[in-house]
Amino acid sequence: MASSPGSPRLHSSRGRGLTRLLLDVDTGIDDALAVAYLASLPEVEFVAVTASPGNVGAHQVARNTLALLELCGRTGVEVAVGAEVPLAIPLVTTPETHGPQGIGHAVLPPPSGTVSQRHAADVWVEAARAHPGELTALITAPLTNFALAIRREPRLPELLGRVVIMGGSFYHQGNTTPTAEWNAHVDPHAAKEVYAAFRGLPHDRLPVVCSLDTTERIEMRPEHVRRLARASGCAVEELVLPEQPEGLRSTSDNPLVRHLSDALRFYFEFHRHYDQGYLAHVHDFFAAGVAAGTLEYSTRTATVDVEVDSPLLMGTTVADFRELWGHPPNARIVSDNNPEQAFRELVSSIGALAARLREP
Ligand code: RIB
Ligand code: CA
Repeated sequence: MASSPGSPRLHSSRGRGLTRLLLDVDTGIDDALAVAYLASLPEVEFVAVTASPGNVGAHQVARNTLALLELCGRTGVEVAVGAEVPLAIPLVTTPETHGPQGIGHAVLPPPSGTVSQRHAADVWVEAARAHPGELTALITAPLTNFALAIRREPRLPELLGRVVIMGGSFYHQGNTTPTAEWNAHVDPHAAKEVYAAFRGLPHDRLPVVCSLDTTERIEMRPEHVRRLARASGCAVEELVLPEQPEGLRSTSDNPLVRHLSDALRFYFEFHRHYDQGYLAHVHDFFAAGVAAGTLEYSTRTATVDVEVDSPLLMGTTVADFRELWGHPPNARIVSDNNPEQAFRELVSSIGALAARLREP
């Protein structure tokens, strides 16, 4: 998608055809928005979705994700659990950020499907071996399952077609410690192993990394929820307002709008509690659009490494853009994006899905 005159060259790859997606999530409010967005795209096929421990425990992630896929009309997708804890440190979850169930104030209907018996790492390895070079991988969670899959199949970085990772913070304030981003901080050892596995691959095989540096520009606001409901054909305005009592539940007649509104209200309240305003950084939605080829972005090549020893800097991701370390590049870090285009896309695509799903 051509960039506007004067702006750095942003690109997307819309019209690329079918995106066959392997997705690893820690659903999570912005993971939920990402799943709904991906489900709204007819050109996206969910090959499988796996659950990593992070925002909430892995089994809760799997239940949330299964229920959400079914709510979005994507029944029969394999959802599998892998790791239940990080590679080397205890699991820390964040119910204060995403709610006790992980999807804010939303209460999803229990899924009719069941969680797969296969281990997430096996799901990834077997799919990549069966379809070499064809699959797009998107990880919007700590990299625990992805690291385990690479341990089982060291060729995985070459067997996958494209890899998009939401995580890290480079020359930008962390959201978990002053220097560390949540996904990297939950499992820094996994992140270190994953980035090391991509060193020296050809440029077009390096993971596209959506870090806080640019995902925090994707600020969802109540106005976007209102526009989404209108695009869904809702008769009544969907108002999520800072002056309303916390925890107010949506009464929308559209199930997808109702659940996303309840989830996002919790996220708005969380960001306000931390003086960021009544808004929500929807990191994973942006990464999903990068993976689907629908959102505009540009990248810079870098060598990334992760701190795993320093108590002060644990989980901090560092980007070397000038090969000062003398190591080959292993990442393409998103350096610019287009928030307005992202939200136009979110509203129109999820709005159209919600309209199709409208209760009779
Ligand atoms: O730091 C943001 C990331 O951590 C997002 O993936 C969010 O869902 C949380 O997992
Ligand atoms: Ca996430």
